[in-house]
Amino acid sequence: MSQHILTAVAWPYANGPRHIGHVSGFGVPSDIFSRYQRMAGNKVLMVSGTDEHGTPIQVQADKEGVSAKELADRYNRVIAEDLTGLGLAYDLFTRTTTKNHYAVTQEIFKGLYDNGYIFPKTTMGAISPSTGRTLPDRYIEGTCPICGYDGARGDQCDNCGNQLDPIQLINPVSRINGETPVFAETEHFMLDLPAFAEVLGSYLQSKQGEWRPNVLKFALNLLGDLQPRAISRDLDWGVPIPLDGWRDQPNKRLYVWFDAVIGYLSASIEWARRSGDPDAWRQWWQHPDARGYYFMGKDNIVFHAEIWPAMLFGYSGRGDRGGTPGSLGALNAPSEVVSSEFLTMEGRKFSSSRQVVIYVRDFLERYDADALRYYIAVAGPENQDTDFTWQEFVNRNNGELVAAWGNLVNRSISMAAKNFGAVPEAGDLTDADRGLLERSRNAFGPVGAELGRSRFKNAITEALDVVREANKYLAEQEPWKLKGDPERQKSILHVALQVVDDAKTMLTPFLPSSSNKVHAMLGGEGVWSGMPEIREVDEDGGDPYPVITGDYDDAARWEHRPIKPGTPLAPPVPLFKKLDPKVVDEELARLAE
Ligand code: MF3
Ligand code: ZN
Repeated sequence: MSQHILTAVAWPYANGPRHIGHVSGFGVPSDIFSRYQRMAGNKVLMVSGTDEHGTPIQVQADKEGVSAKELADRYNRVIAEDLTGLGLAYDLFTRTTTKNHYAVTQEIFKGLYDNGYIFPKTTMGAISPSTGRTLPDRYIEGTCPICGYDGARGDQCDNCGNQLDPIQLINPVSRINGETPVFAETEHFMLDLPAFAEVLGSYLQSKQGEWRPNVLKFALNLLGDLQPRAISRDLDWGVPIPLDGWRDQPNKRLYVWFDAVIGYLSASIEWARRSGDPDAWRQWWQHPDARGYYFMGKDNIVFHAEIWPAMLFGYSGRGDRGGTPGSLGALNAPSEVVSSEFLTMEGRKFSSSRQVVIYVRDFLERYDADALRYYIAVAGPENQDTDFTWQEFVNRNNGELVAAWGNLVNRSISMAAKNFGAVPEAGDLTDADRGLLERSRNAFGPVGAELGRSRFKNAITEALDVVREANKYLAEQEPWKLKGDPERQKSILHVALQVVDDAKTMLTPFLPSSSNKVHAMLGGEGVWSGMPEIREVDEDGGDPYPVITGDYDDAARWEHRPIKPGTPLAPPVPLFKKLDPKVVDEELARLAE
């Protein structure tokens, strides 16, 4: 049965180009998942965009000497290009500075406010003594009062996962310039998280056995300490607070995380409007059978497993204080928060400032997108922190993509093309032939099941096993020695080409561009698996901006398709580039000492 599946992908900050650490967390996994779901016949809506408000943008804009808006414009475009280059098939990748996003954010705020889940409070805010500006929570560092960890930030402690207020930090200092902040009274709006204790508790408990254990454990832990949380800031860059007396205050804005998570909804609404059916988003947000999967790195869990569900429950009138759904109607909470762990780079934390980094665009200048997608799927930080090394990248590229998969494709197609010019017919099958065909055909079930649960490592390992067995089969059958027995040679090559076609299908979610090439090499017509593109759009004649979108209503289906004897075959071109081992030293030399 076809399901509506929302793939909600974390919104990258528009404060710089993306590096491979970023895209290993939210980017590649969400695309593998979405492509699989589309192939399985489900109706996928994959949305995201650049996160353009708040301090991360303001701080970088100050550094580059431009306005926050100029900075966001610049990196929105750069990031859209990075993600398109990786083949990430967003239905809509937009941005948070659209009128639509402002309107939807304000609507959610009002719904929560009307239901009594948002209240004003006078708090102590941190001010930078040298600039007089508010020093945002994230930019204050000190010792965690709960666990004693030294590098706790003003908004949360990454060590124990607890939310913090900057004023609770022991020995607070500004991460921007090292000075000690002063604290002064300021009025803000608070999201009443304690009013969601019960509904969040039963929501998270119901996910036992379904979510990745690390993610659920982290989320359940947060329930122990639910505090009201400030959702506005003293800042001039962000979404205005939609209440009389507040709307026009130049220095009060909604907190960037409050508006960013709403982006999933606003982007879905924008997509629906652009598709010509303004209500189409409701199928993914309001239908009881629809499922929503949220992809991110683990530093985002608190916002997706606690705060965003609380906002959705509150807007829908489902917290302790009840209430009625806002004008959009009741909204679905995430079905799963799929969080990755962290990727490090040659044993160190990624750092743009210290040049421990490889940017997506630099990577794509030298290597193919599929090579990175493969590495992330097979060796990425799915369940634990993992290290990217150039040595492993080269080894896997040469040993697995080139020597196993590329070689199977290449020799099967070139032998068939050379000897028969077309897909040959199979004669009587031997046990070995039948064994391999069954092995391959039977892999669709288990590989698909792993993909549907976001167990990408298992899925790709199982698909590659089929490839390895096919190589072994060819080595045993030695069709190249059967010049005198063309009938047997035809059968063997038919079997090999069928397995190439099956494996191509199973590898499509991971390796869409090279699978499209294999599709064409096997004589397939039309688009096999759609690729994203950048389009310029605007809102009622406003400034144009780029979005990623695409037509993914393509041929790829998650099923074995019998190949057709007689289909003409041309000699193949190599699928993947073999990398010179020297690449390792060259790349290491590019990293700062
Ligand atoms: N910009 C945030 C980050 O890079 C992620 C925002 S995800 C969203 O950590 F849900 F808020 F959109
Ligand atoms: Zn702590």
